[in-house]
Amino acid sequence: MALIQAIVGTLLLGSVLAFTPEQMLAAPRRSTANVNPSGEWALFTSTSYNWTTHKPSTKWQLMNVDSGDITAAPFDSGISEVVWVGPSNTSILYINGTNDEIPGGVTLYTADIGASNFSPTLVASLGAPFQGLKAVNTDSGAIKFIVNCLAYANNGSAYNPDLASKSRSTGQLYDANFVRHWDVYLTAERYAIFSGILSSGYGGSYTFDGTIKNLLWGMQAPVTRPESPVQPFGDQGDYDLSPDGNTVAFLTKAPELPKANYTASYIYLVPHDASLTADRINGPDTTAPDTAKGASASPRWSPDGKKVAYCQQDGIAYESDRFKCYFAEITGLHANVIPVAEDWDSSPAFLQWSLDSENLIIASELHASVRLWTIPIYAKSSYQPTNFTGPETTISDFAVLPGGSFFVSSASSWTSRMFYTIKPGEKPNVLFTANEADPELAGLGPKDVSNFWYEGGDGDMIQCFVFYPTNFNPDKSYPLVFNVHGGPQSSQGDSWSTRWNLRMWADQGYIVTSPQFTGTPSYSQRFTDAIQGNWGGTPYRDLEKLYEYLEANVSYVNTSNAVAVGASYGGFMMNWIQGQPLGRKFRALVTHDGKLSQESSYGTDELWFIQQDQNGTIWDNRDNYERYDPLFHAKNFSTPHFVVHNDLDYRLPIAEGVMMFNVLQSLGVPSRFLHFPDEGHWVLSRENSLVWHRAIFNWIRYWTGMEKDLLMDIVITQ
Ligand SMILES: *[C@@H]1O[C@H](CO)[C@@H](O)[C@H](O)[C@H]1NC(C)=O
Ligand SMILES: *[C@@H]1O[C@H](CO)[C@@H](O)[C@H](O)[C@H]1NC(C)=O
Ligand SMILES: *[C@@H]1O[C@H](CO)[C@@H](O)[C@H](O)[C@H]1NC(C)=O
Ligand SMILES: *[C@@H]1O[C@H](CO)[C@@H](O)[C@H](O)[C@H]1NC(C)=O
Ligand SMILES: *[C@@H]1O[C@H](CO)[C@@H](O)[C@H](O)[C@H]1NC(C)=O
Ligand SMILES: *[C@@H]1O[C@H](CO)[C@@H](O)[C@H](O)[C@H]1NC(C)=O
Ligand SMILES: *[C@@H]1O[C@H](CO)[C@@H](O)[C@H](O)[C@H]1NC(C)=O
Ligand SMILES: *[C@@H]1O[C@H](CO)[C@@H](O)[C@H](O)[C@H]1NC(C)=O
Ligand SMILES: *[C@@H]1O[C@H](CO)[C@@H](O)[C@H](O)[C@H]1NC(C)=O
Ligand SMILES: *[C@@H]1O[C@H](CO)[C@@H](O)[C@H](O)[C@H]1NC(C)=O
Repeated sequence: MALIQAIVGTLLLGSVLAFTPEQMLAAPRRSTANVNPSGEWALFTSTSYNWTTHKPSTKWQLMNVDSGDITAAPFDSGISEVVWVGPSNTSILYINGTNDEIPGGVTLYTADIGASNFSPTLVASLGAPFQGLKAVNTDSGAIKFIVNCLAYANNGSAYNPDLASKSRSTGQLYDANFVRHWDVYLTAERYAIFSGILSSGYGGSYTFDGTIKNLLWGMQAPVTRPESPVQPFGDQGDYDLSPDGNTVAFLTKAPELPKANYTASYIYLVPHDASLTADRINGPDTTAPDTAKGASASPRWSPDGKKVAYCQQDGIAYESDRFKCYFAEITGLHANVIPVAEDWDSSPAFLQWSLDSENLIIASELHASVRLWTIPIYAKSSYQPTNFTGPETTISDFAVLPGGSFFVSSASSWTSRMFYTIKPGEKPNVLFTANEADPELAGLGPKDVSNFWYEGGDGDMIQCFVFYPTNFNPDKSYPLVFNVHGGPQSSQGDSWSTRWNLRMWADQGYIVTSPQFTGTPSYSQRFTDAIQGNWGGTPYRDLEKLYEYLEANVSYVNTSNAVAVGASYGGFMMNWIQGQPLGRKFRALVTHDGKLSQESSYGTDELWFIQQDQNGTIWDNRDNYERYDPLFHAKNFSTPHFVVHNDLDYRLPIAEGVMMFNVLQSLGVPSRFLHFPDEGHWVLSRENSLVWHRAIFNWIRYWTGMEKDLLMDIVITQ
């Protein structure tokens, strides 16, 4: 027996290869699951990349929820979205991304996945690239649906770029802020929700009369025109259709406030037939509490069709304020808003109703992992729910199943996708986990990550995640990658990322640390708020304390052979520590899209963010901006520094990265600059990402003595 174990052990060791960027980028990326009404079937997509053909390929997959068996769905990647709706529990309505009659349009098909012959029927031809499909069966047998699309500003009709007339000039003239956002310049068109009806015809067929109505049309907009989904990340989660198909709830930014410097948004109701103009249920002069003034999220109809639940922040210009839960009792378009457990110090990300319409199932983050919680809708303000899922994975989406259990789509640093079912109080039943299915992820597991708590710069306990390389041996000493997350108000713990995959970074031969320093959400709202006006203050001291902790307490980390890396706020922090004593502790630094000059803050898109984080405008509160301005400390810059910055980053404009590189080179500090003309704040193309990883990994390995030379094949010199 011992002999067999020894052989198996050796074989395993020998067969476990380090996790590489090529593998991480090629490995299947699975969507969250879309579960059918009876809870028996789940659909999802899986997209892989092939380094020989340099092409991605997407397939649809169908899981039997009972057995976990996965088979190919009977359609290909030409289908962009599927909704379970129609006469049976396996009936679907889907968007086919092509339209043979109208270039740039899409088509709707009905089908039954449970039928022995999969034979879809074309039911509607839509003349623009509609997306975000939601649909319900009505009593008459018709299907009412909603979708979204850009709409013309002058008449509200759907905008099809393939058919739109093109101007002979490229000039764009503006009268108000918000010229550009994330990675695009704003044009006149805005996203709107459109409604349509598939009437039930002869023998179970459907007919479509071609009528599609813009539900946002006609709304009063003194300052900001309505737009739903809210850009750039909004999707069909920003709207919902009542179970009877008669009323649509959606959110749009506050029409009376300028879009660039306020986050506030409200929930509106509108009849599906557009017979009345949309009216709001929260915000000023409604039954919602006066304190609820900020951004709204996640409007969801109760299964009984009588209520809409949603979340809202208090702060009118604070994107990281705590979301609180509400529900509104609905009669017609009238609403009576009731807060739910409003003192709960947790910030819900999204929610669903229980099937009896009496509880909210809430996905909210605790200690850098999104978990599920149940709250009765009539819970008092002091009600404290408890999580019924744990920190093992972080939840991306979930569905409520008949019988009181839930279907969860989650991920962690060691699995890009896990599907499981869970009943509160019981153990999860894992149906699928990518690390056991994908050869690229073979060998990854929960053993690859742990965390500890240490005392931060101002006395708060800080949680720090640690990622280990393949075949980690605690008796050895490893060089350190000291990662500082972005946001700053977002966590980076035991989660999967294709942009900053810390488990894969570890396989370059490092221990990787990721502290959830002051400002990180999910540790109390006070802790999140404490980074205001304090960017280089408490968080910096939290990082100094972590370095000291690792030096004193963690024998397998060699702090004298360390590099520090970070993106966005983490990139700002790299630029900041470059001019501070902590910067001298590292062999090299890496900044991805970070800020060098706080004085150039107004080059950004979302002015609410800088004005909240620096606690005022630069003209009234200049000291706040100057206090932690890395550029002012340039004289001390001396640690080798790799700078990445992308041209389409309108959040932190390219000048920040170019300026940093110009300063480093002028001072004679060893440095490199990498940019992608076609990427924004994030590097998304896999080909670009591979270059990004190669160049950065070569840099950190060189400065920590693991590689003799710096890569020269992509370097452009004078
Ligand atoms: C769908 O499945 C549920 C649960 O199994 C069942 O009660 C219901 O009758 C089914 N509906 C149809 C239309 O078959
Ligand atoms: C990638 O494409 C090549 C060429 O078509 C093919 O031979 C190979 O099997 C593909 N690899 C994978 C993992 O599908
Ligand atoms: C999608 O539409 C194209 C033509 O527009 C058609 O050839 C194809 O069969 C459709 N596919 C499905 C699965 O509906
Ligand atoms: C709406 O306006 C656009 C731009 O002027 C025009 O191209 C389009 O034909 C109009 N649509 C309708 C339905 O009038
Ligand atoms: C927001 O922007 C508007 C329009 O530019 C301006 O009038 C207002 O003073 C700004 N408010 C804040 C708090 O910055
Ligand atoms: C809830 O979260 C705590 C803290 O992380 C954890 O110890 C506990 O196991 C979680 N509960 C469940 C049911 O997973
Ligand atoms: C080392 O760990 C101990 C126990 O957790 C802690 O009290 C001490 O402060 C740590 N040392 C440093 C330098 O952080
Ligand atoms: C730590 O790193 C330094 C610098 O590379 C090296 O000289 C030293 O030997 C390392 N210590 C251990 C224990 O590996
Ligand atoms: C922000 O500014 C307000 C008003 O000027 C002040 O009362 C508050 O203390 C400031 N907050 C921080 C964290 O500096
Ligand atoms: C540079 O570092 C020295 C020593 O820590 C410090 O006294 C000085 O103020 C720093 N200069 C700048 C511009 O930050």
